[in-house]
Amino acid sequence: MDLSVNYLGLKIKNPVVVGSSSLTASVENLKKIENSGAGAVVLKSIFEEEIYYEYQSILEKEKELELPDVRFLDYYDYKIKEDNIKKYVNLIKEAKASLKIPVIASINCKSSWEWSFFAKKLEEAGADAIELNMFILPSDFSLTCTKVEETYLEIINKIKAAVNIPVAAKLSYYSSDLAAFVKRVSESGVDGVVLFNRFFHPDFDIDKFEIIPSNVLSRSSDLAISLRWMSILAGRIKGSLIASTGVHDGASVVKELLAGADAVQVVSTLYKQGIESLTDMLEDLKAWMEKHGFEKIDDFKGKMSQINSPNPAEYERVQFMRYFESKKYNLG
Ligand SMILES: Cc1cc2nc3c(=O)[nH]c(=O)nc-3n(C[C@H](O)[C@H](O)[C@H](O)COP(=O)(O)O)c2cc1C
Repeated sequence: MDLSVNYLGLKIKNPVVVGSSSLTASVENLKKIENSGAGAVVLKSIFEEEIYYEYQSILEKEKELELPDVRFLDYYDYKIKEDNIKKYVNLIKEAKASLKIPVIASINCKSSWEWSFFAKKLEEAGADAIELNMFILPSDFSLTCTKVEETYLEIINKIKAAVNIPVAAKLSYYSSDLAAFVKRVSESGVDGVVLFNRFFHPDFDIDKFEIIPSNVLSRSSDLAISLRWMSILAGRIKGSLIASTGVHDGASVVKELLAGADAVQVVSTLYKQGIESLTDMLEDLKAWMEKHGFEKIDDFKGKMSQINSPNPAEYERVQFMRYFESKKYNLG
């Protein structure tokens, strides 16, 4: 049975990739991830702010320009000792020296300021690809969606111009023109899109009057969002389509592939079930393929996408009317 797939132009041995999180921040875990069978791994993100402020503070000390001048940044490299940037670059180098599966670096960004030079350093350290985790919360009353989307496209353009390795854009579903926007992103030169990112959500502690995190880890029911959009977008956009959020078991891997995803990313389930649970997920995928007589992923990828469906309207149904009328659903 051949589980290999094309991921951003890289051939990976199976479609289950471990997504960016603190689980992917140490070489020890990365080895466990590889031993458990992952097709590739995305390292924990480095934040644009970390890159920017680290260089900026050095420049300020040197009484240089207000904004870092990228032409001189290499000159200051030697001054950066045990800092985050160096640690991140070392993580890539060590991961590459220890693993056979592709190692994807990740940058968390929300502006196209002059930090993009940094992407080159990730490539030089040996990263096989870069994932851009881009998100601007649409909470600024003066910022239109066009401006927000332009920023994402600018970031992609700058990073693509800076490196030769594949670049993926990890996007959120907060968009009023999601299908059109993902299409635009996919046609911007990026090598694939990851749908979707998951964010920190605030909750209230009503006794201490404090903000606390809520639902840090996803639930399997969260799969529904990416499943709908995978189905709608598959076959209609350029580059790789990678599902993320709510992929918790072998069945959800199968669902995303049927929807048309080229691969999936998993995170929360590994926090809940342990990194080793990847092995079960892959075994379940194989068992399902065997049951249905599929020998390779392409035999069924996209079989249930909207473009291949005899009933495309099913994917765009948003109201519950029929659901509530029907006696067959137990709403408990
Ligand atoms: C504890 C934790 C840390 C995360 N850190 C990052 C990160 O550094 N960069 C990133 O792009 N995504 C990060 N994510 C988001 C995951 O990569 C993933 O997109 C999200 O959790 C949805 O997938 P899941 O349902 O499989 O968890 C993090 C998620 C969790 C739960």
